[in-house]
Amino acid sequence: MSIDVSPTIKIKKTQHSKIHEVDFNNLPFGQVVTDHMFVCDFIDGKWQQPQIVPYQNIILDPSSKIFHYGQSVFEGMKAYKDKDGKTWLFRPEDNQKRINISAKRMAIPEFPEEYFMEGLKALLKLESDWIPTTNGSSLYIRPFIFATGNGFHASPSDEYKFVIACSPSGAYFDRKVKLLIEQKYSRSANGGVGYAKAGGNYGGQFYPTKLANEKGYDQVIWTDDTSHQYIEEAGAMNIFIRIGDTLITAPTSDRILDGITRKSIIEIAKDEGINVEIRKFSVNELIDACDNSTLKEMFGAGTAAIVLPISGFGFNGRDYDLPDLNNSYSDLLKKRITDIYYNRSEDKFGWRYLVE
Ligand SMILES: Cc1ncc(COP(=O)(O)O)c(C=O)c1O
Repeated sequence: MSIDVSPTIKIKKTQHSKIHEVDFNNLPFGQVVTDHMFVCDFIDGKWQQPQIVPYQNIILDPSSKIFHYGQSVFEGMKAYKDKDGKTWLFRPEDNQKRINISAKRMAIPEFPEEYFMEGLKALLKLESDWIPTTNGSSLYIRPFIFATGNGFHASPSDEYKFVIACSPSGAYFDRKVKLLIEQKYSRSANGGVGYAKAGGNYGGQFYPTKLANEKGYDQVIWTDDTSHQYIEEAGAMNIFIRIGDTLITAPTSDRILDGITRKSIIEIAKDEGINVEIRKFSVNELIDACDNSTLKEMFGAGTAAIVLPISGFGFNGRDYDLPDLNNSYSDLLKKRITDIYYNRSEDKFGWRYLVE
């Protein structure tokens, strides 16, 4: 459902800002929260008046459907401040659309576009001082919707809450990562919910990722659920592989999240004259390319990690190292995309979105 009217947002400001307790030179990722949050409830078949309130706990009945049936979807976005103090978002309408694609798959009522965009802008204006300006930092934004209706019956909730919370954050990873190609567990399956940013998709990754961590890998590279032969994505990133001078990434599907960073990197790479192939890519092809030294680099791409170089990967009990390149595509593409994020370059694609 959609309501195309401009929302009136009721704003209640905090009396006790926590901003002076925060060390902005030493920000972890996603741990510190700002003073306010945007909330809107779905009750009696419609989204009610949106509000901005002091950041606070949410009290739920133990029979709330979120606890039992996992109806929850979320988004991850960032706000950036440029050197003149202006606040920017990157392709926010795509996050707005994607949360509703996720919501639909989880039988959650869609959140109206106007409410999302107006709520986001109002919250960011209020939290402007929380947007960090230290190198590589940004305000991580977490919009989410979850089931608040009560009862143990295994059926969709009749009530939901939409929230936007923000966290001034430093880098997600501040070094290259080593990944394990998964041969047993699956993140998603055809006809499943892999393409949705549904909470359970992430919960289901934690155990295989923990096993990989115990073996010394940072994250898992997911392969297709039927053959485990094709590279899909990793953690909260899409994966790019450079063979020779060609950049390859898997096509999106039922099983793979349609990453906003992924599709932007594809455009930027093409703009740089790089040959990009969007196709299935097998683990065998990867191993062959590693063995014959045509595998030049691999990197992940996602809002949180931006462009994250991969130092090597494990497969079948063997470790494969990637070379250290001077003129890597990952460095080039990371610079191009972050220059757009922070308004340091022209934005020929029209992706940057001015908040204020
Ligand atoms: C599973 C998964 N893949 C890829 C991505 C990258 O998507 P985006 O670039 O839109 O952040 C994310 C993060 O949102 C993710 O959770």
